[in-house]
Amino acid sequence: MADGLRDILTEKRILVCCGAGGVGKTTTAAALALEAARGGRKTLVLTIDPARRLANSLGLDALGHDVQRVPDEMLDSAGRSARGGELHAMMLDQKRAFDEVVSRYATDPDAVARIFRNPVYAQISGSLAGAQEYAAMAVLQDFDEKSDFDMIVVDTPPTAHALDFLDAPQKLTSAIDSPAIEWFRKLQSSGGRGWSVVGRTGSYVLKRLSKFVGSQFLEDLSVFFTEFNDVLGGFRTRAEETFALLRQPKVGFVIVASPEPMAVREALHFHERLTGQTMPMAGFVVNKVHDDLPIEADAATIEGKIGAVPGVGELNFQPSTLRVAAEALVASHQELQTLARADRASVEKLRDASRGSPLVEVPFFKEDIHEVERLGALGRFLLDAA
Ligand SMILES: Nc1ncnc2c1ncn2[C@@H]1O[C@H](COP(=O)(O)OP(=O)(O)OP(=O)(O)O)[C@@H](O)[C@H]1O
Ligand SMILES: [Mg+2]
Repeated sequence: MADGLRDILTEKRILVCCGAGGVGKTTTAAALALEAARGGRKTLVLTIDPARRLANSLGLDALGHDVQRVPDEMLDSAGRSARGGELHAMMLDQKRAFDEVVSRYATDPDAVARIFRNPVYAQISGSLAGAQEYAAMAVLQDFDEKSDFDMIVVDTPPTAHALDFLDAPQKLTSAIDSPAIEWFRKLQSSGGRGWSVVGRTGSYVLKRLSKFVGSQFLEDLSVFFTEFNDVLGGFRTRAEETFALLRQPKVGFVIVASPEPMAVREALHFHERLTGQTMPMAGFVVNKVHDDLPIEADAATIEGKIGAVPGVGELNFQPSTLRVAAEALVASHQELQTLARADRASVEKLRDASRGSPLVEVPFFKEDIHEVERLGALGRFLLDAA
């Protein structure tokens, strides 16, 4: 059996938690970061949209784009010594991160100001395909280059498909670099004589278009794409650097999945993609696994047991009521067993694919993981898999 993910907390510097939506990426990232800090490392967790209660329970009432230090009591709350470790957390503000990248690559401060003022920028910077993933990677790269954290744990955005995260830089640059946008760019760079550059058909299209969207909007659009051209070059360079970073051995991808077929499929695709691109795997976390709890008793035995519970006799139930209750219990237990068996099959499927990478199973807890104590309990499953 695997030894859990304990080793990666000392061997790696960057852990990237990825997987399908809702499987537990943010929770796993927080739990791994907490364990790394408790183990003595100066740790940063870069989260994306954590549950407010989770941020609060770490003592971070207003988690935002600036790095905040988690109070040391949180590291000690499970009665373990912090061993000099520190936990810092930030929540990625995608808009701010994206603005930072733009500022870095624009040619001059005036151009930055013009881009930010442009209404087209305000519209697209929050909604462009891959912008959030791109911003997360840019922030990670900055911390890797400039900070003295021993460990950086990165959460990934709630994309419908785990692969979006790796494809983001490509998607983003191709979205901005499409032929239609090139057309606008040409129009603007002709210095007001754009009608001739786009030709008669273009001129006609523009005239019609301006009727719908207004000529000011078209002007904003073409100015924006011209200004943005310089920034794009920087984006591409950054994307290539990110890919290079994500291949380094100090990085480890933690693929989080739940046993749901869709999440398993995503995890398998993602794993294939990582290994295909020689990106370093750290392990699998199969989260929210239903426990297999076989019971031997039949409905009649259970009915007898319910009847024998102190106080039940005084309620004067009809015997048939007890029988119905016992049968309902058996039926819902069988449903749980069916789930547990399906989950087992999912875990085995992932285990077959894991090819030597650690794989840990985490049970479906009765409650959400919004308290430090529960993060600690999750941490023990992650580190000490039997
Ligand atoms: N093992 C578990 N048992 C019970 N609840 C869990 C477990 N793991 C996570 N949760 C809960 O499931 C919810 C989703 O978890 P989380 O936010 O970490 O998922 P995510 O993958 O980051 O989601 P998104 O894709 O939306 O970002 C949270 O309320 C969390 O507390
Ligand atoms: Mg999340």
